[in-house]
Amino acid sequence: MERRDFIKNGTLAAASLSILPTGTLFAKDNGKVRLGYIGVGARGMSHISEGVLRDDVEIVAICDTQESSLKGCRAFIAKNGRPAAKEYTGSTDAYKAMLDRKDIDAVIIATPWQFHYEQAIYAMNAGKYVGCEVIAGLTVKEHWDIVNTSEKTGMPYMTLENVSYRRDVMAALNMLRQGLFGELIHVEGGYQHDLREVLFNNGKQYYGGGVEYGPKALSEAQWRTQFNIDQDGDLYPTHGAGPIINYANINKGNRFTNLVSFSSKAKGLANYVESQSPGHPNAKINYKNGDVTTTLINCANGETVMLTHDVHLPRPYSLGFRVQGTNGLWMDVNKSIHIEGKSKPHAWDSVNEWFAKYDHPLWKKYEKEAVGAGHGGMDWFVFNAFIVAVKNKKQTPIDVYDSVTMSVITPLSTKSLKEGNKPQEFPDFTRGKWKDRKSTFALDDSGF
Ligand SMILES: NC(=O)c1ccc[n+]([C@@H]2O[C@H](COP(=O)([O-])OP(=O)(O)OC[C@H]3O[C@@H](n4cnc5c(N)ncnc54)[C@H](O)[C@@H]3O)[C@@H](O)[C@H]2O)c1
Repeated sequence: MERRDFIKNGTLAAASLSILPTGTLFAKDNGKVRLGYIGVGARGMSHISEGVLRDDVEIVAICDTQESSLKGCRAFIAKNGRPAAKEYTGSTDAYKAMLDRKDIDAVIIATPWQFHYEQAIYAMNAGKYVGCEVIAGLTVKEHWDIVNTSEKTGMPYMTLENVSYRRDVMAALNMLRQGLFGELIHVEGGYQHDLREVLFNNGKQYYGGGVEYGPKALSEAQWRTQFNIDQDGDLYPTHGAGPIINYANINKGNRFTNLVSFSSKAKGLANYVESQSPGHPNAKINYKNGDVTTTLINCANGETVMLTHDVHLPRPYSLGFRVQGTNGLWMDVNKSIHIEGKSKPHAWDSVNEWFAKYDHPLWKKYEKEAVGAGHGGMDWFVFNAFIVAVKNKKQTPIDVYDSVTMSVITPLSTKSLKEGNKPQEFPDFTRGKWKDRKSTFALDDSGF
């Protein structure tokens, strides 16, 4: 399919969405994006490794509270022949001096979840584009603050949700937009990943044993495990919700209206610690986060959504996507598709042929660039999408409304569980604009 046909056949042609207020100036206009990074641990480093490969990116500054992370990043930048980045460290406020610089256009935030809100608000007020990992805020009010600050300052905010760019996820989007599945009826997805070796380690290596968390541990076990101890709810909704908002045109002619969550009992983490180190005090902790949390969401146009958070039990990785319409469905877990009239009645086809045929035009075009990047290439796409938006001073393809819509699922699901599975109204962050907004995601290759 030619790109122009693709645009014509898509939900709607991409609009030029420059929202920067008149007078917003970027440090220099030589086609290069000047980046600052807050947090150069595991995830920050994958964005650094994308940055050093690009001629249109300058890594101006990095900020981290731990010397071990800065040291690794410094060495990596040098090894790749790039100029040293100015370092900011010493306190949890060190990022402010970095963001006060006038020669930074955009910031990548890859710190623990509890810091994202204040760092993103400060960045937007300082006139920077924000690309932030996973969580926008911890409370519903913080999500509103992110929207209000982005609207007030005109600075785009993008959740760097890489799964939105996964090749099969985009092929399914392409098939849906071309009508293969018929009218959308139901969508599923989630975060289903055995994270026990991420949530605990021995402080010496990221994976591979150990039952410590907090200061005795490394990387995410230093901070993320505490959320699983303290909070029930879907703690990581964006891998599922990112693709789903594109499938269901959420905030663009459709919206989430309410949700309800259910959580199982929590056995996985304590059992894991006990199995690794019998009698260890971390096996006695009362982990509040249920092993399997299921969240159901209603959409204004009548579709239903199911999200699963399942990270404490032994299981092979699968985000569990299901995209189902009046004419057929894709299921990720058995890698199968059924299309009425094309598949044998009541039989599955392997996804391979379908997804080869309906490979998304962006993947066809940029496959070479993406090869070798993290998570099967989708990390190149999400980073590229952010950089291209900054470079062209355009709206980001995952905008502030999409970003907070994905992330606010966490506090809403926690509240639903606290209130005995009570349905929660979903905030309309667009304040009614969803009715007239059009989907632009991946309909054009100028900003993805
Ligand atoms: N999209 C993905 O596939 C993906 C994968 C992994 C992690 N993530 C997300 O990326 C973010 C970071 O996760 P990670 O795995 O890199 O964790 P990490 O613990 O490896 O790295 C976090 C870094 O932030 C630093 N830090 C902590 N507080 C800080 C502060 N106040 N100011 C500056 N630096 C600070 C830490 O020292 C550390 O180097 C999280 O939001 C996580 O959910 C996303």
